[in-house]
Amino acid sequence: MSVPVRPAIAELPAYKPGRSAADLARELGLSQAIKLASNEIAYPPLPSVVAAIAQAASDVNRYPDNGATELTAALARRFDLPAESIAIGCGSVSLCQQLLQSYTGPGDEVLVAWRSFEAYPLLVTVAGATLVPVPLREQTHDPEAMAAAITDATRMVFVCNPNNPTSTALGSAGLEILLDAVGPDTLIVIDEAYREFVTDPDIPDGRELMRGRPNVCVLRTFSKAYGLAGLRVGYLLAEDPAIATAVRKTYVPFSVSTLAQVAAVASLAAEDEMRERCAAVVAERERVTAALADLGQPVPKSHANFVWLVLGTEALAFAGFCEARGVIVRPFAGDGARVTIGQPYENDAFLSAVAAWDASRA
Ligand SMILES: Cc1ncc(COP(=O)(O)O)c(C=O)c1O
Repeated sequence: MSVPVRPAIAELPAYKPGRSAADLARELGLSQAIKLASNEIAYPPLPSVVAAIAQAASDVNRYPDNGATELTAALARRFDLPAESIAIGCGSVSLCQQLLQSYTGPGDEVLVAWRSFEAYPLLVTVAGATLVPVPLREQTHDPEAMAAAITDATRMVFVCNPNNPTSTALGSAGLEILLDAVGPDTLIVIDEAYREFVTDPDIPDGRELMRGRPNVCVLRTFSKAYGLAGLRVGYLLAEDPAIATAVRKTYVPFSVSTLAQVAAVASLAAEDEMRERCAAVVAERERVTAALADLGQPVPKSHANFVWLVLGTEALAFAGFCEARGVIVRPFAGDGARVTIGQPYENDAFLSAVAAWDASRA
């Protein structure tokens, strides 16, 4: 007999690794397969960042700076906030977990739109809190329905903006409906993992939105636009320093490595180059969006580095069809498929698979 696990944890699905591009290429006898499944950027980190990582590589016999002092100071300058208002985490997913551990527990409700970032339900369960999912409306957060779902037990609201996996974003009016409906003792977490890909001026910047709102915090990451997904570093911004203090209390000591900290500092110094890359991704996003519409597979307007095909019950079959053509996408059974914007040749391979899918069904 195995040692009993906490019942809530025992019920969670065990981790299943996704299909790697190398495995798929081997299986299909291709020189390479294309992975458009994890919303990574398709380019290596910026050259100045790679150089900084290489230089710091000889320092890893020491523990990392547990307070991430230099990175925190650089973020404080970048966002015009005191260092006390910033917390660093081992990826922004870790900050989600720290927030939940610091602010919620049994009997507390955590409101999320659904479908949204798939880590939220898992982390709410790990914290022992109760998930309250509110269905999306037209693939977007429904602020009125979310406001109506708030109860005395609601301790936290996640707003994934732009939303993973649907790529849609809530504009100022919708966000304000929601922020105004939430009481001062409920934390609103605006998860902006994809903020750098937003070009629509009506989608507010969480940093601006949180001004004068002490119950709002913003999560950002170096994983996406800066291409540091493999190094694991994200950050939290809040006007009320008490939020960052609470989150630091549930930080796993030393979990943001020296290389991650150095790379993040170097990344902030190369923001202009990062913006150019994001502009290229956005241009490809618009090209792919238009091509999908031409192919009869229109997608919701994307504000991120991925698109969302609403496929309902055909999601898994579609992903299998793409895989058989060497393209890995991310299906969500019964809902749709999320497809990361890659390099132009990768996007072309995906569009060819969609054309073939359409033809197979004509
Ligand atoms: C909405 C959202 N938040 C957070 C994350 C986590 O990013 P990371 O932990 O790499 O910073 C992701 C990653 O896919 C995401 O889509």
